[in-house]
Amino acid sequence: MSRLIVVSNRVADVTKAVQSGGLATAVADALQEARGLWFGWDGTVVSNDTHIGISINQQGNVRTATVPLSQRDYDEYYVGFSNNVLWPSFHYRLDLNLIDSKSIDGYRRVNQRFARALAALLEPDDLIWIHDYHFIPLAAELRALGVKHRIGFFLHIPFPPPDIFLAVPEQQWLARAMFSYDLVGFQTASDTQNFIRYVLEQAGGEQVSDTELKAFGGTIKVRPFPIGIDVEAFYDMAHTPTADEQIQRLQRRSMASNHIIGVDRLDYSKGLPDRLRAFRRLLDLYPENRKAVTLMQISPPTREDVQAYADIRQELEGLSGAINGEYSDFDWTPVRYIHRAVPRATLAALFRGSQVGLVTPLRDGMNLVAKEYIAAQDADDPGVLVLSRFAGAAEELTDAILVNPYDNDEVAQALQRSLTMKKEERIERHNALFDKVQKHDVKNWRETFLNELKSSRRANESG
Ligand code: G6P
Repeated sequence: MSRLIVVSNRVADVTKAVQSGGLATAVADALQEARGLWFGWDGTVVSNDTHIGISINQQGNVRTATVPLSQRDYDEYYVGFSNNVLWPSFHYRLDLNLIDSKSIDGYRRVNQRFARALAALLEPDDLIWIHDYHFIPLAAELRALGVKHRIGFFLHIPFPPPDIFLAVPEQQWLARAMFSYDLVGFQTASDTQNFIRYVLEQAGGEQVSDTELKAFGGTIKVRPFPIGIDVEAFYDMAHTPTADEQIQRLQRRSMASNHIIGVDRLDYSKGLPDRLRAFRRLLDLYPENRKAVTLMQISPPTREDVQAYADIRQELEGLSGAINGEYSDFDWTPVRYIHRAVPRATLAALFRGSQVGLVTPLRDGMNLVAKEYIAAQDADDPGVLVLSRFAGAAEELTDAILVNPYDNDEVAQALQRSLTMKKEERIERHNALFDKVQKHDVKNWRETFLNELKSSRRANESG
């Protein structure tokens, strides 16, 4: 059996005790069952790069090989190109794209360094699976070192339409680098189409078949692989005696009879200010919800060295303070805002104990919180998922209440509809959603991708 090598910038705590973003959660789930090695950044920053060595650790079934980043690499590769250029642009936020040439050099340099470190760890039969926007050129760098292994790439975030991708510096170099993979996977059909359109319209490429794309002297396979969660494990986590106790406490400690929950990294792509404004509209338009409903928004800090994240934090804190100042009473606080990571087991309980799951990103690759909310529900009395049309999950989860996250009145109406929805309709929607979440679970995602990778071989005109 060949060994699976997973590469991602963030290597999570495999025990998954706390939230660490969709990628880490899914990869940790996927690696549990495969004999594998997870290679990436250890999350630390060292002041100089002369002593950067690899640490190998065993975490449960998973072996990790991690390296620190130097301060310069962190500034240029992680904060600079990955999170000040690629992240905003790929989330359609060109207004936040901060182009500077130093950060592009840092991104190249770190990809070269990771390629050299990884090449030294490889065994002949290894299957290599590279994840996310931090490492788009990694296969090209590995190929330059003579690595001939099968290499797959999965993009966890959206791929924007050509007009937006064209505004990314070095976009042609990035697109060309994708042709060093044997297989390139996206979250949704529309992300896949956006990439194909760029290649056909801007790079003189040719579509050879439904899943084969030819350009830059090579032919690769390209298709969507919607990511999922470990449904059973999440359901079980929401149904322990501790979870029961937490749900009772949530209900006892609050005079509100209905709870709306939102859980997102504090990221501008998650639509949090609009979510709070929509909640305020709910209290304005349907005053019967005052003293009867709370919104719990759990948003752990993330990427705090990026200015746009400091700005969004200020905006959110201002808004939740303003709503609470305006509407609270001595016995009711409408918004509970938690700016901390909460253990995943507690989240599972809170999802189950909340009548509405509110997931309203302005743009999102997939959004696993939407799937977790569904997995946690009681089938005989489930809550309702209100989901942004612009989350990748909306392509599959069409039985959620789908909303335009920019339209505060529409979201307020969707909340009111959810809070007053009859049990039969809730059950019907939940059954349909649960089926889809179960069918496209994390195991299915991993197996479909890896099976496809095993049978893919890029054709390269230069040999
Ligand atoms: C998203 C990205 C991941 C990233 C995660 C957390 O899910 O797709 O690549 O790891 O956010 O962000 P961070 O910058 O803390 O790794």
